[in-house]
Amino acid sequence: MKDELLGFLCCPACRADLELRKARVWTGSGNGDGQEEVAEGVLGCTGCGRAYPVLDGIPRLCEHLWEEEVRALGRFRRVGRVATEPRPETPRADVYVRIEELVRRKLQLPDNASRYLEERVENDVYFRVRGCERQEKYVNTLRLHCDAQIRSVLDVGGGQGGLMKCLGEHLRPSVSVLLDRDLSWLDVARLRNPGAEVVRADAAALPFKRSSMDLVISQSLLEHVEDHDKALAEMCEVARETLFVCFGPNKPSVYDFGHLDAPVTVFPKSVRKYVAILWHRVRRTGRSTDSIVSELDRTWYISTSHVRKILERYGEVRNVFRDFVLFSAQSDYAYGMGKFTRYLRNHPSLMKSLCDLLVWLRVEPQSYYILRKVQGR
Ligand SMILES: C[S@@+](CC[C@H](N)C(=O)[O-])C[C@H]1O[C@@H](n2cnc3c(N)ncnc32)[C@H](O)[C@@H]1O
Ligand SMILES: [Zn+2]
Repeated sequence: MKDELLGFLCCPACRADLELRKARVWTGSGNGDGQEEVAEGVLGCTGCGRAYPVLDGIPRLCEHLWEEEVRALGRFRRVGRVATEPRPETPRADVYVRIEELVRRKLQLPDNASRYLEERVENDVYFRVRGCERQEKYVNTLRLHCDAQIRSVLDVGGGQGGLMKCLGEHLRPSVSVLLDRDLSWLDVARLRNPGAEVVRADAAALPFKRSSMDLVISQSLLEHVEDHDKALAEMCEVARETLFVCFGPNKPSVYDFGHLDAPVTVFPKSVRKYVAILWHRVRRTGRSTDSIVSELDRTWYISTSHVRKILERYGEVRNVFRDFVLFSAQSDYAYGMGKFTRYLRNHPSLMKSLCDLLVWLRVEPQSYYILRKVQGR
């Protein structure tokens, strides 16, 4: 964590300013700009007095800390002199090898996995290692709808940091921050983006000052957050100019691609499990009941009109589904591109009309919204 990040942060519990006490700093040129970084320290709240640790260069700004983080706080209380040491670095040539190691460790397959599962995991590994960087469709959609200069970017639930890398290359913001609550993904994101900041925090309690980030972006996060309304409102408040929020599936679109791979979204929670189990049995995918149940426990189905209502409290809202789909069809990579998508790619006017129809019926499979904030709302 660099000193300048402190100017953007606040206490996730009471939103008061934070004070930084350093215990250990890193020096060296590993992050590309040669700036010193705080490796260990404490962020103390000037309002409610809570303390949050910085560990291994990552501010841990969740209200509920892990045991390791609580122990670190105790240790830092007794620290007198600030220790300085060279930053630990991964040689650039080895970065993707290391990223793949970390990704495979996270996405382990069960013994005797079916072909369906093997393919699913291999696709996922490819996406999380390499594919996730090919996100020009986001940049192009943003440029079409937002002409303001973007100096600071916050990616909420940024995972492996592929989108952050693409945004960094195209928009060249001076401050890039990726927030996630999963430490393994933060490690991957940092390897990929050595100049960016990574922060461990909860999307429903963002530790950022209001209107502090020119662009807040979030992709495939909302559907994983139980308190998604709160997370969305937090993102609207932290954004200064623009919020680009993408989530899916849109509840009325019926089929959940990517999580359950089953037509479950419109059923009541108690029924979804049985529909999904039956669907996978009929298709003989080999997906276990445990995996279905745990995925359902981690997935919330939200409707695009519900999200729109929340966004409208903060400014001008645009549904950019059609633009996004057109830009993704032009790019040579789309996650899980099927035959139908390939067909549409060669028939752009059919694709446009279909997108408009889906949006008009409010059943587009994924939702893409850009909010242009109106100050004072
Ligand atoms: C499906 S991944 C999407 C990652 C990335 N945005 C992308 O599209 O490749 C969802 C990410 O959100 C993170 N996440 C889920 N719930 C969260 C929460 N409440 N607060 C912060 N991050 C969360 C997960 O750890 C995960 O990295
Ligand atoms: Zn506080």
